[in-house]
Amino acid sequence: MPPAPKNFDAVIVGAGAAGLMCAQAAAARGLRVIVLERSAKPGAKILISGGGRCNFTNEEAGPAAYISANPHFAKSALARYTPHDFMDLLARHGVTWHEKKLGQLFSDAGAGRILEILLAECAANGAEIRTGVAVNKVTQSEDGFLLETGMGQVATKKLVVATGGLSIPKLGATGWAYDIARQFGLPIVTPEPALVPFTFAAGDLALMKPLAGVAVDCRVSIGKAAFRENLLFTHRGLSGPAILQISSYWSPGAAVQIDLLPDMADVESALKAERQAHPKQMLKTWAARQWPERFATAFVDTLVGDTRAGHEPLGGLSFAETTRIATLAKSWMITPTGTEGFAKAEVTRGGVATDGLSSKTMEAKAVPGLHFIGECVDVTGWLGGYNFQWAWASGWAAAEAL
Ligand code: FDA
Repeated sequence: MPPAPKNFDAVIVGAGAAGLMCAQAAAARGLRVIVLERSAKPGAKILISGGGRCNFTNEEAGPAAYISANPHFAKSALARYTPHDFMDLLARHGVTWHEKKLGQLFSDAGAGRILEILLAECAANGAEIRTGVAVNKVTQSEDGFLLETGMGQVATKKLVVATGGLSIPKLGATGWAYDIARQFGLPIVTPEPALVPFTFAAGDLALMKPLAGVAVDCRVSIGKAAFRENLLFTHRGLSGPAILQISSYWSPGAAVQIDLLPDMADVESALKAERQAHPKQMLKTWAARQWPERFATAFVDTLVGDTRAGHEPLGGLSFAETTRIATLAKSWMITPTGTEGFAKAEVTRGGVATDGLSSKTMEAKAVPGLHFIGECVDVTGWLGGYNFQWAWASGWAAAEAL
C-alpha cells in the first residue's frame, strides 16, 4: 500500500453510500479528501441492496417518509439533493432505471454499477479511498482532528462520520459513530432494529409457521402509521413489505392492527348480504374468494377458530358470529414478542440525535468540523429507496459545508 499523505481537508470514515457521495462531492469542490473504510471493500450494502438491483431512490422522497425525533430535520438536505439529482448522475453514466412500484426506482444495470459510478466519481474528482483501514482513536487538535488509524496518524481539518448503523453486523456494521458522538458529548437516540421481521409467541407461531411463503395484501397500522402492502408469513413469524414498514414504528408490547380486506370498507355488511343471498355457501368458500387458499383455510379454522363457523353454511351464522368474523378480517390484532434484531434489520432507527446537529451541514453544533451523515443519524426512511436518498442527501449537504 503506498503511503498516504497525512494532512487532509476532510477525512470521511466509512465508504458506504453516504461516505462515497460526500467524498466525491467534496473532492469536486477542490478539497483534499480521503475515505477510510474498515472492511476490505467499499459499499457492501449498496451491492446487496434491492436484491442486487439497488432501489437507489424513491421519487416521493420527502420528510414525511422519514422517522426522526425531529420530523423537520431531514427537510433541508432532502430539498437540496433530490431523487432527480441522483437520476441525473446515473444518466451521465449511461445507466437507466425503472420504477417497480410506489415510486421505488431500481437500477437496470444492477447494484454493482451504482457502486462503480460512485467510485468513478471519487476517482475523477481526486478523492482517495483506503479500505482495510480502521480508525481507532480520534482526538481534537488545534486546527481539527488527529486520527489514530491502521495506516498511522492522520490529521484533518474536518471529520465526517459515515459509518452507518448497527444493522447486519456481518457486513461490517459497527456502533463507531455512536461511540464518537458520545466521546464528543452528543446525545444519542437509542438505536433499534428497523425494517425488520417480527417474531411471535408459540400460539401465534402455530398459525404462521404452516403458512410460510404465503403473501396477503393488507393494510397494517400502529396508531396513525399505516402501510398498504403485502404481508408475508415465515417460519419465524411475519415479514414482507407491510410488516417491515410498520416495524419501524413498533415498540415492545405494542399491538399491530392488520386489515386483511383493505378494499372492502364494510366487511360486516358484505358478509351479511352474502349470507342473505347465498345462505348455503360455506364460510371457507367465501374466504377462498378473498385470500390465497392456504390463508383462507387458516383464517376460518384457526383465526375464526369457532367449531361451528367453519362447518356451518353462512345462513347458519348468527349476527354476532358474522360481526366477529368481519372484525377479525378488518382488524386482526397481533402482538409481536420481538423482532429478528440487527442481524436481519435493513436499517437502524435512532442514532446520533438531530438536536446536536445542524440540519443544513450535518455538523455537530458543539464541535465545529465534526459531521455525521447517513444511517448513523437519527433519520430513518421507509422501505423503498428512502434510506439511500437520505444517504445521498445528507452526504451531499455535508460536502457542501466542508
Ligand atoms: P453504510 O452501512 O452503507 O456504510 C457504512 C460503512 O462504514 C461500511 O462500509 C462499514 O464497513 C464502514 N464502517 C463501519 N465502522 C467503521 C469504522 N469504525 N471505521 C471505518 N469504517 C467503518 N436502502 C435503500 O434505500 N434501498 C435499498 O434497496 C436498500 N436495500 C437494502 C438491503 C439490505 C439487505 C440492507 C441491509 C439495507 C438496505 N438498504 C436499502 C439500506 C441502505 O443500505 C442503508 O440505509 C445505507 O447503506 C446507509 O448508508 P451509510 O453510508 O450511512 O452506511
